[in-house]
Formats: sequence, C-alpha cells, structure tokens
Amino acid sequence: MRFFGRKKKHGAPASVPEHIAIILDGNGRWARKRGMPRTAGHARGAETFRRVATYCRDIGVKYLTAYAFSTENWRRPPEEVAEIWRLLREYLDETYERMERDRVKVRILGGREEMPEDVRELLAKIDEKSRRIDGITLCLCINYGSRDEITRAARLLAEDAAAGKISPEEITEDSIASRLYSAGIPDPDLVIRPSGEVRLSNFLLWQCAYSELYFTDTLWPDFGEEDIDRAVAEYNRRDRRYGGVKG
Ligand code: IPE
Ligand code: IPE
Ligand code: MG
Repeated sequence: MRFFGRKKKHGAPASVPEHIAIILDGNGRWARKRGMPRTAGHARGAETFRRVATYCRDIGVKYLTAYAFSTENWRRPPEEVAEIWRLLREYLDETYERMERDRVKVRILGGREEMPEDVRELLAKIDEKSRRIDGITLCLCINYGSRDEITRAARLLAEDAAAGKISPEEITEDSIASRLYSAGIPDPDLVIRPSGEVRLSNFLLWQCAYSELYFTDTLWPDFGEEDIDRAVAEYNRRDRRYGGVKG
C-alpha cells in the first residue's frame, strides 16, 4: 500500500466506520466492457485497492477488510486463477516491504493449506512482522469462504471437546468467534459490494450479523474516494438498533 499522508478531499463524513469490509467485485465486467481480457480487470482492480486502502487509512478507518479470492473462485479458468495469484503475490510482496513504514498490520483470512508454498512462506513472514506493528489493520481474505471458516471452527471445538478440554455447555458465541480466522477483530460496521450484485457470496456470514450493507452498481476498478464517501454518508444515515429499540 502506498500512503502519502494525504488528507481527505470530499467533505468530512459525520462518523467514519471503525471497520469497513469490501467485496472487490466487477473486475471481469470492467475489462469486458473495454474489449480487454478479464485479467486486465484484475490488474486494474488491484491498483484501485491500493488507492482506496490509502484513502480509508487517511479518513481514519481502523480495520479494512478486502475479499480478494474466495474458496469458490478456484472454479474459474486456470489462466485466470493463475493471473489472480500472480497479482496477489505481487501485492503481498509489496505489502511486506512497506508495512513497517506505512504502519499497516496485516491479517490473512483464509485457508493456507491450498496455497502455493512460496505464498505460505511469505504469509508467515507477514504474520511475524505484523506482531510488531501497531496501526491500521488490513485483513486480506484470500482463499476465504465463510462456511469453510465456520466449519473449521466447529472442528477445532470438536477436537477440544473430544480431548476433554471443553464441555458442550462451555461452547459460546465467543468460543466460536475466537476460532474463526477473524479472531480478535471487531465485526465490520459497513460492508460494501460494488458491481451491482446484491449478495454476500460466502463473505463473513458470522461477522456480518449486524453490519450495514451497501450495494452499488459501480464496478470495483472504477471505485474511487468519492464512492467511499458515498458509502460512509449512507452508513451515517442508518440507524443501528441491534434488535433493540431506538433511544
Ligand atoms: C472480482 O471480480 C475479483 C474476484 C472474484 C477474484 P470478478 O472477476 O468477479 O468480476 P466480474 O464479477 O466477473 O465482473
Ligand atoms: C465474490 O465475487 C468473491 C470475491 C470478490 C473475491 P464473485 O464474483 O466470486 O461472486 P459471485 O460468483 O458473483 O457470487
Ligand atoms: Mg464477480
């Protein structure tokens, strides 16, 4: 991520969500509209993420989560999958080099077993560096699926129960949450999905129980600072009740 300490440009939102999560969608359609291969859309989408992440940090977002590759995205043509992983590697390499200077703590949400060995090594180095950094937390969802995450948590609890470390009555929402990839990270306040699709596509199903959802037709590569401002402004018009009553 490149951080130049820029100030926000588009008028101060009343309150900035502590945690924004974004489903980076619409890269393929952005490219097709221009007669380009889908992979060109992924490259442009990665650039957009660099800009938007910088902006989110500048306006005071504390946690930024990006859905970059799902457990279902392996179903795509192998050439597309390979290009997405090339871009992910490039981004992760760059992040590893810059994270101390930019004060970005990185959390990876997703299954690592299926990842190439060099990526797993790089992620281990990023984990290690992140322990020493105190700043915005960037959560990258790579090979992430919410059902997969919850299934793993259930398995971990079952193992603890079988080993006599925990009894079924001791299983609580907290004991489940603490076994998710997102353990220790507050739930998203605002989830943004560009590209016109109105669904979550297996993204943070547990964590988004009370998140505000914002959908827009803008394709991810076209996203800019003003789109974040619009989403934050809409967030400020929402009334979060968590099942209670107002006032
Ligand atoms: C999102 O853009 C990127 C990934 C899912 C990796 P898409 O590739 O899904 O773009 P569309 O939805 O086909 O336009
Ligand atoms: C969701 O987008 C996954 C990511 C953005 C990483 P998809 O493009 O994969 O979702 P669907 O297939 O439209 O639901
Ligand atoms: Mg898509």
